[in-house]
Amino acid sequence: MLKAILSVGRVAERCGVKVSTLHFYEQKGLIKSWRNEGNQRRYKADVMRRIAVIKAAQKVGVSLESIKKALATLPDNRTPSTKDWEKLSTRWRDELNARIAFMEKLRDSMTSCIGCGCLSMKNCPIYNQEDKLASQGSGAVILNR
Ligand code: FES
Repeated sequence: MLKAILSVGRVAERCGVKVSTLHFYEQKGLIKSWRNEGNQRRYKADVMRRIAVIKAAQKVGVSLESIKKALATLPDNRTPSTKDWEKLSTRWRDELNARIAFMEKLRDSMTSCIGCGCLSMKNCPIYNQEDKLASQGSGAVILNR
């Protein structure tokens, strides 16, 4: 499979995306293809791992720009090795850890005051008496700390 040359339709089907999405990813410089004699797009099989990583990262809110920078660390001229992916994940680790921490905080603060000014939760008077947190900024001040 590693050496397989895949059509745009096969990649779209296997990755669960529309062909237009592949064109969009290519336009954004996230993936690459080449044209065969019939001027049809062709991809190497490792493009499917890139697409899976793009989709997963987008799902947790990572920007296309950040994804592009991360994927740019992978070699173009050969199939990325485990070491290459390790390098990418090290580079991305801090951003992903920050996202994980924020999502945990969001999960854990659903029953508590998040400092948004609503004063509607039981413990708002404790954490945000008379919306004193408004002086520290806009939005969910506690959640965004
Ligand atoms: S949750 Fe909105 S101010 Fe406390």
